[in-house]
Amino acid sequence: MTTVLVPGTTAADADDLAVWPVSTRRQADGDVGVGGVALTEVAHRFGTPVYVLDESEVRARCRAYRAAFPDAHVMYAAKALLCRAVIRWVRDEGLGLDVCSAGELELAVTSGFPPERVIMHGNAKSPRDLETALRLGVGTIVIDSPSEIARLAAAVGPHGHQRVMLRVTPGVSAGGHEKIRTGTDGQKFGLSLADGSAEHAVARILSQPQLRLAGLHCHIGSQITEVEPYVASLRRVVGLMARIRDVHGIALPELDMGGGHGVPYRPGEPALDLSALARELRGALASACASAGLDAPRLVIEPGRAITGPAGVVLYRVLAVKHTGGQVFVAVDGGMSDNPRPALYGARYAPRLIGRRSPAKPTTATVVGRHCEAGDVLAADVELPGDIRPGDLLAVPVAGAYHLSMASGYNMVGRPPMVAVADGSARLLVRRETLDDFRGRDVGE
Ligand code: LLP
Repeated sequence: MTTVLVPGTTAADADDLAVWPVSTRRQADGDVGVGGVALTEVAHRFGTPVYVLDESEVRARCRAYRAAFPDAHVMYAAKALLCRAVIRWVRDEGLGLDVCSAGELELAVTSGFPPERVIMHGNAKSPRDLETALRLGVGTIVIDSPSEIARLAAAVGPHGHQRVMLRVTPGVSAGGHEKIRTGTDGQKFGLSLADGSAEHAVARILSQPQLRLAGLHCHIGSQITEVEPYVASLRRVVGLMARIRDVHGIALPELDMGGGHGVPYRPGEPALDLSALARELRGALASACASAGLDAPRLVIEPGRAITGPAGVVLYRVLAVKHTGGQVFVAVDGGMSDNPRPALYGARYAPRLIGRRSPAKPTTATVVGRHCEAGDVLAADVELPGDIRPGDLLAVPVAGAYHLSMASGYNMVGRPPMVAVADGSARLLVRRETLDDFRGRDVGE
């Protein structure tokens, strides 16, 4: 499909399209183009709701990371969004992959991703996760609990070897919501630096000849917009690396600082400054290692949201507009089954009317979904044209990460398709979930 955008269209910068993909163009007819494709055409061709993913935005973001962190390993966190196209783009752009299940790993490796460039996480890895990791030859497994050490060593067998890291908890609180903060004790991830359990686990790993400890890992949370918590965590983890050198006489070659890099969801919101993060982490690593007399380990980072989030836009069709209790509710054909983030984390979005120009004055409205609960709110108190009506299309930017990957089968609505846009054409990456899919899984009577 090829779309010629209306001449004289404006670029996205410096206006209310600031959080949209760089390729976004406003068209004279009220439509919006992304990747050279008019969004109304995507809606017509593929139906709604539909996730749209701008391939060049994803690739550009991969490149920006590699340019900012030329000496580090950049591992894309698959949990943000994974499908075969994304696997290929990330591989082409030279990134590694962070997976947290046999499913993510199997999809990646069977799509041609080199297993040695994959790191596997999980606070509760199932036997199937570990069996798949070992069978497919995953590069690194991140140990996240003491019981995993002997279990993994036994699974590797007496003659095998597996490269591992240990996930540690530095005692630093950061992240966009309580549910996505993982840097402190008292939550399920990692082994504490403060109470000595990280150090104890290191000794146990080193006593297993099959396990090769490559470094320490620390992911303090998600949707973090400040550099400072990363620097504070890095200093603490380097402290443990120095103790390991003192006690065991080994210098660990890698330090994985995880992901969590925050992005703006609405114009004017802060983003984590990537070049500041790179500069400060590099500086802090050099100085902490110099004062401990350690050779600086290689940095590893695991961005997820910041790679795919801002590359995605989700399109909905308005089904009903209701004025009640002094409020305007704009109900669309999706909801918490394609985006649970507002319900889970109170996430705020900036939806926009596309497909027509409205002469009407803006009104304050709440965009709600079609699911059977009052909490199915996609965007509360947003400005939309006062004449918003059934049949209109709404587009919500920053829908590339933790939307499709967290989508559910609630109310058997079916998960939306994902469509890639690039160079003026659109192609289906993931098809819509249909009633046949639901029926096919329902095998009992
Ligand atoms: N590394 C590890 C070990 C992680 O657990 C995560 C995310 C990442 C990297 C990537 O974090 P990112 O750069 O994408 O922030 N569902 C939540 C986010 C949960 C993040 C879980 N772990 C949301 O929608 O905000």
